Amino acid sequence: MSMNENRLRDQMTELGRSLYERGLTFGSAGNLSARLDDGFLITPTNSCLGRLDPARITKLDASGSVVSGDAPSKESFLHLGMYGQRVTAGAVVHLHSTHSVAVSVLDGLDPERPIPPITAYYVMKIGRLKLLPYYAPGDPQLADAVREVAARHHAVLLANHGPVVAGTDLESAIYAVEELEETARLFLLLRGERLRLLSPEDVRSLESRAAG
Ligand code: 13P
Repeated sequence: MSMNENRLRDQMTELGRSLYERGLTFGSAGNLSARLDDGFLITPTNSCLGRLDPARITKLDASGSVVSGDAPSKESFLHLGMYGQRVTAGAVVHLHSTHSVAVSVLDGLDPERPIPPITAYYVMKIGRLKLLPYYAPGDPQLADAVREVAARHHAVLLANHGPVVAGTDLESAIYAVEELEETARLFLLLRGERLRLLSPEDVRSLESRAAG
């Protein structure tokens, strides 16, 4: 096992625990993955992100077949869909974080802009969030839906389910999904208020600095 792979296993375990301890994930919800030179690491299905065992994290080869570890997340095809379309993606995070899920349940949202540009950091970390229709967790159609839009969106919100966010590495993917969660919370807090949104020029200038 390479130094890099060992380090990534430890980092997934540490960041998974941090997400769990701060209430951003719970039970066995959510999954994390990271790209390796020769494939991917992904959290095992039904595992608690707060209590990962680095040695049991699943290793997939470059085509997505299991090489070692426990059975992979049922969302592994969704993660692979992101990697396949985004050469710069080094990690993918999927959560059922409460406020993002709450937004994903609202009726009548614009799929091209489910959350308006309310803060600079939201635009910088998330850019253009895409709302995808509902499919059951693990449904291959969900992975297809993500693959279709992944080249244009590093962050998607699955209706009645939760966010999927890619980043250049695990830390930046997690920073971005946390920014999305806090923005979803603000958006819900502000519902019914008159908002002063960022202007299209502000958004364009911030998007040029967006990560992902
Ligand atoms: P896994 O336990 O298979 O990773 O699935 C959890 C989840 O978040 C489904 O959307």
